[in-house]
Amino acid sequence: MFDPNVIRKDFPILSKLINDKKLVYLDSGATSQKPSQVIEAESNFYQKFNANVHRGAHALGDEATQMLESARQSVARFIGGKEKEIIFVRNTTEAINLVAYSWGMDNLKSGDVVISTIMEHHGNMVPWQQVCKKTGAKLELIKIDSEGKLDQSYFKEKLKLKPKLVAFTHVSNTLGTINPVKEMTKLAHKAGALVLIDGAQAVPHMKVNVTEIECDFYVFSGHKMLGPMGIGVLWGRQEILEKMSPFITGGGMINEVFEDHATWAELPDKFEAGTPNVAGAVGLASAIEYLEKLGMENVRKHDMEIVGYTLDKLCKVRNLAVLGPKDADIRSGSVAFEYKGVHAHDVATILDSEGVAVRSGHHCTMPLHKSLGLSASIRASFNVYTTKSDIDSLVKAIGKVKQVFGK
Ligand SMILES: Cc1ncc(COP(=O)(O)O)c(C=O)c1O
Repeated sequence: MFDPNVIRKDFPILSKLINDKKLVYLDSGATSQKPSQVIEAESNFYQKFNANVHRGAHALGDEATQMLESARQSVARFIGGKEKEIIFVRNTTEAINLVAYSWGMDNLKSGDVVISTIMEHHGNMVPWQQVCKKTGAKLELIKIDSEGKLDQSYFKEKLKLKPKLVAFTHVSNTLGTINPVKEMTKLAHKAGALVLIDGAQAVPHMKVNVTEIECDFYVFSGHKMLGPMGIGVLWGRQEILEKMSPFITGGGMINEVFEDHATWAELPDKFEAGTPNVAGAVGLASAIEYLEKLGMENVRKHDMEIVGYTLDKLCKVRNLAVLGPKDADIRSGSVAFEYKGVHAHDVATILDSEGVAVRSGHHCTMPLHKSLGLSASIRASFNVYTTKSDIDSLVKAIGKVKQVFGK
């Protein structure tokens, strides 16, 4: 019963006109659109439940606290973790910084190795660069093969360096590649490393279960999975989180405070200093409910169908080179491409004039683009409301590029 044309009716923004043309939104990898259910859930919190949480002062505060904790329960159920292992943060970037600084500063020292990959979003590369610089640890990046998959033999070779941590993405936001997270986690653990997985581009499109993957940290953003901006999740294994120092300190995360020191609250509060984004968490829980109703198996099936359709159409366009694997089975969420002889920004501008919203630039993967000999590319990215007709509009608008540039 999964029909993107019916699903679209839940997304008010998709009926908007851009340049007098129907909006064709193909930038869901940057942020997804939100269904009315999510928008209403957030607004409902402010209209009926708004109070600060964890203060125990009055009934309204208790209701707000219950809503936050119920949202935590939804997230835990959705990814197969325990409630106390769900830390609410602002976004994926903050979750990775939390681990990099809290775990990294206490556990890395000169000579240690951290492994990441060339296909990482800057959000899963720059924090590791920074913490390695501060601690004297070395950052090693796994290369990709000619297809756009991580080079597994190179990975196995680098594991011989006995890294302390391996941090890699579940799905590449530029190549679309789905990495074999379970197998890589197993190998990394065998080498004695902890594993952090960046799930920003995976959680919106497929069933993720952290217990099955057996990783140590898994991070993602609400705004890419139909939820609000400003809410994200760090899932961490309880015994590891318990040993970690807090990242941000202050109110709400303490057990006791003395004039010269303080002791920390239990999980998850230890990592949630200050007033949390309760409305955001409530909106995220509503997005999860929406996705669960659609069924994540159906969401993934539709994702594969749209990726496959896009690959098929774009591979036939002259002067256009698709990045990443050509097989939709090992891809998710997006298709990026190079238009030979025309700058990515020019392509995107022409597409925009036709109402087609895509991303152009390096998509926060500068080292990956450099390794591919590119300074920029164009990315079309999808979500549950994307239709084949959206892709046809993209292809038609690309025809306009050909008209303008004669290439
Ligand atoms: C793979 C990946 N990791 C991390 C991020 C950063 O997400 P946020 O901006 O929500 O922190 C993104 C955003 O595009 C991403 O695609």
